[in-house]
Amino acid sequence: MSILVTGGAGFIGSHTVVELLNAGEDVVVLDNLYNASPESLKRVEEITGKTVKFYETDIRDRKGLDDLFANEKIETVIHFAGLKAVGESVYKPWEYYDNNITGTLTLIDSMRNHGVKNMIFSSSATVYGDPKVVPITEDAGKGNVTNPYGWTKWMLEQILTDIYNADKEWNVILLRYFNPIGAHKSGLIGENPNGVPNNLMPYITQVAIGKLKELGVFGDDYPTHDGTGVRDYIHVVDLAVGHVKAIEKIKENVGLEIYNLGTGVGVSVLDLVHAFESANGIKIPYVIKARREGDVATCYSDASKAKRELGWEAKYNIEDMCKDSWRFQQKNPEGY
Ligand code: NAD
Ligand code: UFG
Repeated sequence: MSILVTGGAGFIGSHTVVELLNAGEDVVVLDNLYNASPESLKRVEEITGKTVKFYETDIRDRKGLDDLFANEKIETVIHFAGLKAVGESVYKPWEYYDNNITGTLTLIDSMRNHGVKNMIFSSSATVYGDPKVVPITEDAGKGNVTNPYGWTKWMLEQILTDIYNADKEWNVILLRYFNPIGAHKSGLIGENPNGVPNNLMPYITQVAIGKLKELGVFGDDYPTHDGTGVRDYIHVVDLAVGHVKAIEKIKENVGLEIYNLGTGVGVSVLDLVHAFESANGIKIPYVIKARREGDVATCYSDASKAKRELGWEAKYNIEDMCKDSWRFQQKNPEGY
């Protein structure tokens, strides 16, 4: 039996495919390559010495999905495929709802028609909205989200919960990621954003390599230790290993479970800038700008449920994340 990884050519997907193959799992990857290069899967093959079975298919393509499930013996789907740019989602809500929600509904329907009822879903800390208490536990309750991307995660969690409630043969694990950064130690795979990056770490690495002049720090008047936004940055390899643990868990017929995947450590924008500078010996020029709309002051996890129930905890620290992000950027200045 195999694991289907949708969005497996992307940033988190490609790192997860490496860890699944290293753990001896059989993997099939589906991706429409909208935000990924086929090169990432070649690199996964180079790292693991294994061949990756790949379907270039869209999750909204019902026939493509039916053919895949008819050809492959899939036991569980790890569902990464989706659009993820917060800012873009405000301008293209229809595209986000269609891709993420129609796509996932099509996938779920094809799965159940082929008797595949195990899903691990990529959710996000964004579903908590502006947290009342930190660190955030899974039972904190969902909050108000500030953009269509976040609403797709919020709604898909609800949809998967309702699907499970109606048919208890399903096993659903909702993984709420905090802020994934870093890259595989080899420097062969990493984050490959299109155009000017929206997220902090790829922006920093592009300043470091000279593609961008300086970092804009969005606000220094938050109620945090240095006034800049605090997040829970997690190494993408730790996140990938979390999926291997979730695969072991789902085999126990878990029903519906939710896990935070984070480090539990809050790091500010300026903390990350300074950590990058000292890890890599490069100065990152920055200017303070206005707050970015929709940002919260502080967001970090309590990840003790994942430790208790999945036997998972993050191993890499901020220095590792800074070194590994920089190695990937240096080895791939123009991306893949
Ligand atoms: P990514 O864009 O690198 O990967 C997503 C992959 O899905 C891409 O390879 C893309 O080509 C593919 N895809 C998109 N729409 C598709 C479709 N309709 N059919 C088939 N393939 C499609 O993003 P990522 O950072 O690896 O994120 C993976 C998942 O984790 C996403 O669902 C994202 O929303 C979620 N997530 C990411 C973060 C983050 O900060 N990176 C945080 C929380 C949650
Ligand atoms: N920031 C800057 N300058 C930049 C980019 C970001 O100061 O150029 C700041 C932000 O204001 C924030 C912090 O850096 O305080 C992190 O911002 P990111 O854009 O890297 O990440 P977010 O926390 O906003 O969101 C990310 C993903 C979401 C996901 C969320 C989960 O983009 O998809 O993590 O916590 F939902």
